[in-house]
Order: sequence, then C-alpha cells, then structure tokens
Amino acid sequence: MDYISEIKQYIENNFSEKRKIHTEGVRKTAIKLAEKYGADPKKAETAALFHDMYRGVPVNTLNYYIKHLELDSRYIDNANLAHGKIAAMVMERDFDIKDQDIINAVAYHTTGRAGMSTLEKVVYLADAIEPSRNYPGVDDLRKEAEKDLDKACLMSLTSTAEFVRASGKYLDNDTVLAMEYLEKIIEEKEKHSLEG
Ligand SMILES: [Fe+2]
Ligand SMILES: [Fe+2]
Repeated sequence: MDYISEIKQYIENNFSEKRKIHTEGVRKTAIKLAEKYGADPKKAETAALFHDMYRGVPVNTLNYYIKHLELDSRYIDNANLAHGKIAAMVMERDFDIKDQDIINAVAYHTTGRAGMSTLEKVVYLADAIEPSRNYPGVDDLRKEAEKDLDKACLMSLTSTAEFVRASGKYLDNDTVLAMEYLEKIIEEKEKHSLEG
C-alpha cells in the first residue's frame, strides 16, 4: 500500500468526524493554493493529509514521543507545538517520506519559520483558511489568500501571535522569526515594484 492510501486509512480509523472534515478541507485548499502559487500540488496534498496526524493524541503520549524521538524539550506539555513535529518525524521514519520540503511543511504548520518555502506557506495557510474554519477575521484572511501568499501568511501569523500573547501563553520563537522574515520579503517586493 502506498503512503497516501495508508494515511487515508489511518485518518478513517482514528480521526474524529470534525478532524476528518478539517483535514479534507486542508487537503483541497492546499492543492488549490499550490496550483495558484506554484508549489507541487501532490506534495501539498501529502503534507495536508499528515499535518494533524497527532492532533488530538493525549499530551502524555506526545510527551513520550518527544523524549523518544529526541525532540526539543520546549515541546513537552505543549500539544499545540508538539503535534506537527512528531508527525514530521513519524512520516519520515514509518512512511519512508524523504522529501524535506514535505517534512518541513508538516513540522512548521503551526508556527511557520524564517525561510519557509512556498510549499510550507501553502500548507500553513490552508490550515488557517480551509472551509470549516470559523473565527473572527477568517474571511479577510481568505480574501488576502486570493491576492498575496506572503501577506496572507503574515496576517495569520500576526493574529496568532496576538492571540497567544493575550492569553499569556508562550509564543514560539519560530513564529517571531517567520513574521520578521515575511515582513522583509514583502518590503523587498514592494520596493521592487515601486522601482518598476
Ligand atoms: Fe495542526
Ligand atoms: Fe490542522
């Protein structure tokens, strides 16, 4: 069985109805964004199917994986940050997926990172705007996603950062660096377009 069929079977057997709908939404949205912005749609689909493989797994189990896979201890007791890192390691180890861009897209789908690729942006954004997502500002984000991938990612990261800070939680440094990175490339692009 190929890994796409395998992960689909895993989703069918393990995911809640809500998470199945979310994953299917991310899959479709990621393919669309990949076609629009020039990433590989097949890679986007693969990353989308795997991205939340460990979402909804109890935090004790995630902690076990973090220790066992020798992941950074800052992911201990933080399901929000841990689930993508573990999925990325497992898809490589158990599903034999070697494409680093797919692995990064899964590993950084919650935080983004400095230097994120087009595929990583596509998966990050698809996760935020897929059709079953419903939160204040999502429609503005969907509109921006039609126009500018970098600006849409920055918009989403910024509202995540505000939310995390307001709730007194720890904001991962990868998110801070991702925002700085995107601000810089947006600025560069604008300078370029002004110079013609
Ligand atoms: Fe996730
Ligand atoms: Fe997700």
